[in-house]
Amino acid sequence: MITAFPFGTLPDGTSATRYRLQAAPDAYADILDYGATVQGLVLPDRNGRPVDIVLGYDTLEGYVSGDCYFGATVGRCANRIGNAAFTIDGKTYSLDANDGRNHLHGGLEGFDRRMFRAEIAGDTLRLSLVSPDGDQGYPGRLSLTVEYSFDERRVLTVRFRGETDKDTVVNLTNHSYFDLSGGQAPMEQVLWLRADRFCENDENTLPTGKLLPVQGTPFDFTTEKPLSRDLNAKDPLLLSCNGYDHNFDLGGGGTLQPAARLSSGVTGIAMTLSTDMPGVQLYTGNFVHGTGKGGREYRSHDAVCLEPQFFPNAMAVADFEKPILRAGETYDRTIVYAFHTEA
Ligand code: BGC
Repeated sequence: MITAFPFGTLPDGTSATRYRLQAAPDAYADILDYGATVQGLVLPDRNGRPVDIVLGYDTLEGYVSGDCYFGATVGRCANRIGNAAFTIDGKTYSLDANDGRNHLHGGLEGFDRRMFRAEIAGDTLRLSLVSPDGDQGYPGRLSLTVEYSFDERRVLTVRFRGETDKDTVVNLTNHSYFDLSGGQAPMEQVLWLRADRFCENDENTLPTGKLLPVQGTPFDFTTEKPLSRDLNAKDPLLLSCNGYDHNFDLGGGGTLQPAARLSSGVTGIAMTLSTDMPGVQLYTGNFVHGTGKGGREYRSHDAVCLEPQFFPNAMAVADFEKPILRAGETYDRTIVYAFHTEA
């Protein structure tokens, strides 16, 4: 069942709405039309107490003034594009340089800052947006829908679909910050990642193009371990960005399959993330800040993001799969978050 509640007004007078997707009496997701954002995600702990497992704000103003991308739909191209430019078929397009000289998360007015048009279709919330030709520098008019459903098995599905009238770059993700411990021990969350390799980053968190084996490094999550175990290891790749902020290789995209599993021993809440994207960014909220829900002061390492996506800067690296959407083709990618509570 989906119900709608007012969620404030933008400076230009546009009203925002929060949609509650009730999966079960004790499980729901709150989704905003602003940024097609996951604002809240509530599941029971092992004693049946409700736990909100994502960071975010109580008000629309929080989202308008915040810069952490809490729960947002990020695009047109999630993550970094080196030197804020890319070339398709010999033509170079310049984008906003909003992260030093690089481009991050779709630019100054990325999709996280757009009002989507909402439509309730049974148990699915369909959010749509038209991104005009030249939006933030990207070519082509992109028509996009983000569909959310949260079913009685406690499976939250996010499906992104898009079409363009010119060849362009599209790489969409959801930027939820997960803390399945509900504020008690975020870095004690235990993570498994189906990745044998990860992207080496430069000092600006931009992939160098080199894929490194995880084996024998702090980046090995092929056997599950708490995030805290190697977070403070004296590894230059961790020290340069204050924690994990790296893309992991899922061995090619195209098929929806489990990529990660996250759980908290404190609450018993566990999540399996499946995706058909080729990579997943692991970001331990290294620069999280601001006053969040319930007046809580957020700090570094208060949550973890697992963002399915193409490898960052893929347009510039010969061997990386290209996030190109051709005119006339359909972009169609899915993230599935399946929850359960362990005794
Ligand atoms: C990136 C971080 C960035 C953060 C912004 C993440 O997806 O990997 O480098 O600081 O988003 O909130």
